[in-house]
Amino acid sequence: MDNAVHKYVHGYSKREIKRLVDQATTLAELLHSDTKYPAGASILEAGCGVGAQTVTLVKNSPEAHFTCVDISNEYLQIAKACVEATGYNNASFQKADIFDLPFSDNHFDHIFVCFVLEHLKNPIKTLLHLKSKMKPGGSITVIEGDHGSTYFHPDSKEAWQTIQCLIDLQSQIGGNSLIGRQLFPLLTQAAFNAPSISPRMVYVDSSRPEYVEGFTKNTFISMVEGVRSQAINSGIIDELTWEKGIKDLCRTTEMDGTFCYTFFKGVAYK
Ligand SMILES: C[S@@+](CC[C@H](N)C(=O)[O-])C[C@H]1O[C@@H](n2cnc3c(N)ncnc32)[C@H](O)[C@@H]1O
Repeated sequence: MDNAVHKYVHGYSKREIKRLVDQATTLAELLHSDTKYPAGASILEAGCGVGAQTVTLVKNSPEAHFTCVDISNEYLQIAKACVEATGYNNASFQKADIFDLPFSDNHFDHIFVCFVLEHLKNPIKTLLHLKSKMKPGGSITVIEGDHGSTYFHPDSKEAWQTIQCLIDLQSQIGGNSLIGRQLFPLLTQAAFNAPSISPRMVYVDSSRPEYVEGFTKNTFISMVEGVRSQAINSGIIDELTWEKGIKDLCRTTEMDGTFCYTFFKGVAYK
């Protein structure tokens, strides 16, 4: 666990479970329309969480097999139940640490990792560990966000301050919520071949009510609100500024508001 972030900035609450599922459901098409694996392929999903991405992976590649690992037993049980509920049986789940994976080298055809590198202290070391478990010629798919890619209307200094609290708190425990922009150099430094990065922008206005609910409110604002106590208790923001910032973020979900955020999807080969 040396390289893992010992405290997970988003925590393991019911609210976070709902947030991960809302996030994945809303973004399934944007992030996964091109995530497809061939029949018979063996794929490691590292840090599967509650299986929010897994349900899309198994549907998109019904003849591939997914081995899904996470360090949280509680999350793994939820992930297993969520995938079973889809009726697909091409995934198995086991508790494992990315830095101590119980698989031989060159074991998997492909690796998939989503929203995990941002929480780990040494993303290059993480990528190298994962690479050792891939067969030569196999692909790795890495998806990460980047909170610095956020902009919205109406703009608000206080809203920015609340987002900055999340960025700072995650950084204090060794994570990096601005990692999306670094996928190309990270994959290159981990000596993967032909890294290719595609930015996936979420644009939200009131003509897309499912994005207003599923992304701006239930994914992004919920994520920022999740660090309220940590931010105020640590003194990096005062309560009044925090409340104004959250109110202003919510204001972007009204009829004339807009919200933008960019995810980065990288694919590279061993
Ligand atoms: C933000 S969640 C993302 C979950 C899932 N990939 C998704 O997109 O919904 C990050 C996950 O990484 C897991 N994780 C963190 N460090 C890990 C490690 N060293 N080994 C395995 N899983 C880890 C956490 O338990 C958590 O479930």
